[in-house]
Amino acid sequence: MKVIQVDDYNDLGKKAAEIIIQYIKGHANAVLGLATGSTPKTTYKELIRDHNENGTSYRHIRTVNLDEYVGLDQNDPNSYHYFMKKEFFDFVDIPENNIHIPNGMAENIYDECKDYDRLIEGLGGVDLQLLGIGRNGHIGFNEPGTSFDTMTHIVDLTMDTRKANARFFNGLDEVPTQAITMGIKNILMSKSILLLASGRQKAEAMAHLLNEKEVTSAFPASALHHHQNVTVIADKEALSLVYSLERRA
Ligand code: PGA
Repeated sequence: MKVIQVDDYNDLGKKAAEIIIQYIKGHANAVLGLATGSTPKTTYKELIRDHNENGTSYRHIRTVNLDEYVGLDQNDPNSYHYFMKKEFFDFVDIPENNIHIPNGMAENIYDECKDYDRLIEGLGGVDLQLLGIGRNGHIGFNEPGTSFDTMTHIVDLTMDTRKANARFFNGLDEVPTQAITMGIKNILMSKSILLLASGRQKAEAMAHLLNEKEVTSAFPASALHHHQNVTVIADKEALSLVYSLERRA
């Protein structure tokens, strides 16, 4: 696991975007695994800036998102479909058909999970997976206790996660109780992984991941120690409780 420390949230976006752009330059039809949440926002902003200034094209890029709430329509401002449009897709030249996000409104959400796995397989797998990390170590919506063998599945969201996300809704009651998420196995099947973390509120999670290095389903992100190509990009505050780092700019 390579760790890159950056100064702050803006620099996190710049560094992550630099790595993604570099990858796209060499792989014009790459499959990108994308994430939502606060953390990747500066990354998307930098990708859009680069697209406008340097013309990096997403014409042949395919994307698969990690997760979506169950029961939210694509046009609901809190859905991850909506987030991705407003934070990224509306501003680059990616064709709509190349965009894939689990459908939280599917008639049969269990079939939707199986279909999503088939879809990812049909695309040839994810080349570069972007990840955030929850304060409890979740990746995607894979909460503590999730087996590392899971593929795309339905999860009951923990109260901690619902509280963390309540800031986007009119109160906790409105936060969905379930989500569809790619599983830890899907994530580990990606060819490369970029894990991003920013801010003091992620310091304990980063310390858990980087100090203890223990692999346990109680801390889902620890599964990443089993992957050969993981780059962590985190800012100083997120790394403030990590004892020793091979810091690389
Ligand atoms: P955040 O969420 O980027 O909004 O902090 C990350 C996550 O919970 O995976």
